[in-house]
Amino acid sequence: MTNKTTISAKSAQQFSDQVLSWFQLQGRKHLPWQQDKTPYRVWISEIMLQQTQVATVIPYYLRFMESFPNIIDLANADEDTVLHHWTGLGYYARARNLHKTAKIIRDDYQGKFPEKIDEVIALAGIGRSTAGAILSLALNKHHAILDGNVKRVLARCYKVQGHAGQAIYEKTLWPITEALTPKIGVAQFNQAMMDLGAMVCTRSKPKCDICPINTSCLANASDEQASYPQKKPKKTIPEKHTIMVIPRIEQQILMEKRPPAGIWGGLWCFLELSDMNELPDLLTKLNLKQSTTFALDKFRHTFSHFHLDIEAIVVDCEILPAKEISENSTLQWYNLATVASVGLAASTQKLIKQLEQLPV
Ligand code: ADE
Repeated sequence: MTNKTTISAKSAQQFSDQVLSWFQLQGRKHLPWQQDKTPYRVWISEIMLQQTQVATVIPYYLRFMESFPNIIDLANADEDTVLHHWTGLGYYARARNLHKTAKIIRDDYQGKFPEKIDEVIALAGIGRSTAGAILSLALNKHHAILDGNVKRVLARCYKVQGHAGQAIYEKTLWPITEALTPKIGVAQFNQAMMDLGAMVCTRSKPKCDICPINTSCLANASDEQASYPQKKPKKTIPEKHTIMVIPRIEQQILMEKRPPAGIWGGLWCFLELSDMNELPDLLTKLNLKQSTTFALDKFRHTFSHFHLDIEAIVVDCEILPAKEISENSTLQWYNLATVASVGLAASTQKLIKQLEQLPV
């Protein structure tokens, strides 16, 4: 497969003029992160907007900014509080990276967000497109972007072969977005390209009749919008199974903070078993004496790369007095009413909801 596209200065100028005129009339200008623009505010929004829709992000963004109005507040916060603000957004590595990066900026950059693209790309959780978006949207610096929406617009406009995740696809698209990005009006242009992808050049049923670049779009000319970008071959993802154990003493439940790596890194979850036969040993280790045990409703949680079938059992216990859990242990008894102030995975939250509805 080869992809060759050359763009003359004249056609790049025409393209950006059309996009910028459209932005004046139709682009989004009132999103919360478009007010009081700073690299910090734009950075947080760009990370939240990865894999998450604008409408979902807005309340999370507002709460986050209320609690952490600047980089120093974020860097100085404890991890549980940061993860709590992410509960429900998913892809928790994004929040852990935000926190890590805030600390680096506090310690190595005197708390000021770096303004050189290479320094920004070197920060945890920030790739080339996100770095370009932060510096262009917040500071008007001349950098191109290439997020999922922009890729779709350009793949159709120039009939670029391939699909997301294929090296050739990205390798072809970067020079295109760079050639098209104007020096003047870069912030508006980049925002407009994302808006075009989200609102007009949608994955299915693109609204080509109202698109500002419909006369230069090759896919539109040959009515092949549905063929670009090409469909990613569907991979079947594995099915896994787990048993979550919820020791309970009246309204207290025992939870475990997961180690930093992995899908639930840093989040408070329940203990897990792969087999019910392991339960007696686990309870002995925890110094708990089981009285009654019952199952909650089973459910499936699907991650990007596997399905997880979750069975959960509540084990009502008596605690044996000898074993105390220290303050900084990765195990903590939580009152059902107070767990909400730490980071919880969606499936943990679901189980807690079920628990709240049960009689003690
Ligand atoms: N998706 C990623 N960045 C965005 C932005 N700045 N505005 C709207 N949607 C986006």
